[in-house]
Amino acid sequence: MKNSRKPMVAGNWKMNGSLALLQTFVKGLHAITTLDTVLCVPAPYLAAAGKGTFILGAQDCSQFESGAHTGDLALSMLTEFGVEYVIVGHSERRQDHSESNLVVAQKVQSVLKAGLTPILCVGEPLEVREAGQANEFVFEQLNAVLGVCGKTFLDNCVIAYEPIWAIGTGKTASPEQAQDVHKYIRQEIVKWNENASATRLLYGGSVNAGNAEALFAKEDIDGGLIGGASLKLEDFTAICNAAK
Ligand code: PGA
Repeated sequence: MKNSRKPMVAGNWKMNGSLALLQTFVKGLHAITTLDTVLCVPAPYLAAAGKGTFILGAQDCSQFESGAHTGDLALSMLTEFGVEYVIVGHSERRQDHSESNLVVAQKVQSVLKAGLTPILCVGEPLEVREAGQANEFVFEQLNAVLGVCGKTFLDNCVIAYEPIWAIGTGKTASPEQAQDVHKYIRQEIVKWNENASATRLLYGGSVNAGNAEALFAKEDIDGGLIGGASLKLEDFTAICNAAK
């Protein structure tokens, strides 16, 4: 079944980088046909990023269509710049901007309505993992999206499992730990929608050029969402090569 899902590697620059770094990626990151290579750059760089051969992603969007929402990004604007994927519900948005499960679900709904693909992030904090409740925590996050969007969201959604304790910490989940949660997610979402056997599940959290291959080899891991290592062209290219 894994082979029927096209692998995907998405870089998430977060609030890092510069126009000069972006030019390096535009010139040097070469898309691979067997892989969806996505780069989610900060919004001011979207226009310049459109010149690259990679697929363009955004890091967030508003759940609203337009109006008095200072600083927020409308999906219609992202679409004008050629954005195809939008990260929704990253743990840093949930923490820094108090995004609830409900707001995240509304954003997923808006992304789908705009005809783009959400990369829905889920994942548990350390204390939840230590309490043995990781699956339940992730289930709640997914279930909130099901409640707002209905089961068809799984027809066009990428899910990224990103345990919070592994993000930016250098503590990667082992391939087995990651596969366990991915397998659980797969089992649950297929109960909601049989098409979800084709839904791509990415792992994120301290993926680097050295550990990517072992993670991506797992049955239910279809690629990665890459933070820190997506800021170095050489590392990001190596990670893409590990997924193709
Ligand atoms: P990291 O970030 O690779 O730097 O851990 C991943 C993410 O937050 O998407």
